[in-house]
Amino acid sequence: MTLLKLDIYSVRNIHKESIIPSPKINLIFGENASGKSALLEAIFILGRAKSYRCSTIKSVINFTKNQLVVSAQSLQKNGNQLQLGIQLDGKNIDIHINQQAKQKRSDLAYALPLQLIHPKSYELLDAGSQVRREFLDWGVFNHDHDFLFAWRKYKKALSQRNALLKTKHLDQINVWDKELVYYGTIVDCFRQQYLEKFKPVFIEIIDKFLDLDGVDLKLVSGWDMAKDFNVILIEDRDKDLRYGFTHSGPHRADFQLLINNRLAKDFVSRGQLKLLVMSLKLAQVQLLANEHSQTGCILIDDFAAELDVINRAKLLSYLSKMACQVFITATEKNDFGNLSQIKIYKMFHVEHGTIKSV
Ligand SMILES: Nc1ncnc2c1ncn2[C@@H]1O[C@H](COP(=O)(O)OP(=O)(O)O)[C@@H](O)[C@H]1O
Ligand SMILES: [Mg+2]
Repeated sequence: MTLLKLDIYSVRNIHKESIIPSPKINLIFGENASGKSALLEAIFILGRAKSYRCSTIKSVINFTKNQLVVSAQSLQKNGNQLQLGIQLDGKNIDIHINQQAKQKRSDLAYALPLQLIHPKSYELLDAGSQVRREFLDWGVFNHDHDFLFAWRKYKKALSQRNALLKTKHLDQINVWDKELVYYGTIVDCFRQQYLEKFKPVFIEIIDKFLDLDGVDLKLVSGWDMAKDFNVILIEDRDKDLRYGFTHSGPHRADFQLLINNRLAKDFVSRGQLKLLVMSLKLAQVQLLANEHSQTGCILIDDFAAELDVINRAKLLSYLSKMACQVFITATEKNDFGNLSQIKIYKMFHVEHGTIKSV
């Protein structure tokens, strides 16, 4: 997909702005606190129905307003145009697709597959497993639309089972164990298959930025794979009862990034870690473009803070050849480096929340 036109109302210091982005690279510059991240945040909200900078949408809405709206005319890879819109007031979310109200978040996410690279992205490899699980599932979700159904069924069974464990009403637990095993195995299978396709794409991208051999990705399914999931559920039952929740299963899944069988995050430099995370994110968008009738959108906030001059040039050159739309922010125009190699791009200047094409 490509955003052809973007309209933003009341997102942080952006009151009412409308831009016509380039279908390829969009370079956004402006002083600190001018509203560059707010612009990326608006696009992110349109695709994910949440902010990446704070957990409450209230703080994203302009102080003088009660709601924010982001809408866009988008061109899908199959040639169809979609009008996407989201309105948030801190309590309710209203999603519009082609003038139809009350659409699902998942439909918005399918229509606008987004990846974000920002100064906290390295946490993907550094923090707890939830961010990695979400990252992995973003890929699986876009790769195979049947995944969402299985994942929802699994989550429902899990919450039912956990409720029984808490109240110690075990008469029906076998029913939910069965559901858990059935859908859990499907979820795990989708993830395995995705990771196998993802790995070579990821390794090819890493080779452009880092001189590392022996890179590997390994799925951690969330239970001891030497045993069947149903056996684990029976073995865990006493422990699960004591704590009131299910200890094993795909809801505890993770993936490991290994270099010569060692966990990369434990020994690579901070700079290498950032490049590894960036490559992971690029690879998801690349795989989407390779295998599907859909292209993604990449948001890069604080370009210069993320990468040194050489890697910035490499990244821009890579992005300019990639089938995706990109939005990159920096404080200085010069931070984008030499642009003579890049054919299709647009530059925008942000000042006090107004955005002008330059
Ligand atoms: N809810 C809000 N309403 C109005 N202004 C806000 C709100 N939240 C943040 N701001 C202001 O918006 C400005 C833009 O912030 P930001 O997008 O982070 O700037 P940049 O990324 O260009 O450094 C800042 O001056 C900030 O104080
Ligand atoms: Mg910023």
